[in-house]
Amino acid sequence: MTETNKLTQTELEKIDNIIAEHKDEEWGLIPCLQDIQELLGYIPPPVIKRIAEGLGLFPSQVQGVVTFYEQLYTTPRGKNIVKVCRGTACHVRGGKTILNLVKQQLNLEEGETTPDLEYTLETVACIGVCALAPNIVINRDTHGHMNPKKVSRLFNKNGDG
Ligand code: FES
Repeated sequence: MTETNKLTQTELEKIDNIIAEHKDEEWGLIPCLQDIQELLGYIPPPVIKRIAEGLGLFPSQVQGVVTFYEQLYTTPRGKNIVKVCRGTACHVRGGKTILNLVKQQLNLEEGETTPDLEYTLETVACIGVCALAPNIVINRDTHGHMNPKKVSRLFNKNGDG
């Protein structure tokens, strides 16, 4: 199993337990993937083969589901998920500039995660608080009326985001 050697033995055992739990369910694949993602934070590609074998599916079937569901991730995600709103109200109030500043500040492109796994940068459609545009969401907190100063303050404090 060299391809899964980045995972610890304990993680592999837990993965196998999760697979076993969902093995006999008719629609066990999605809950199985969700549970593995909850365990590891993402679904490492080499684990796909293991899941397929365990559930009696083809790896391509498992891969197809992972690709289809936006909530399933095949790369590690940061401790802090930063979402810059790209909705119309935010866009007309400088959302694009804010996005560029965040990119610069974190040295990330959309969809990327910092090597220290501290931040993942994403964009989202309108989050429903257009009056506060432009907006950034970090984890569960919305930061409204963003401007360059606020962006650098948010990411320079390097701690609780
Ligand atoms: S467009 Fe950004 S919150 Fe509505």
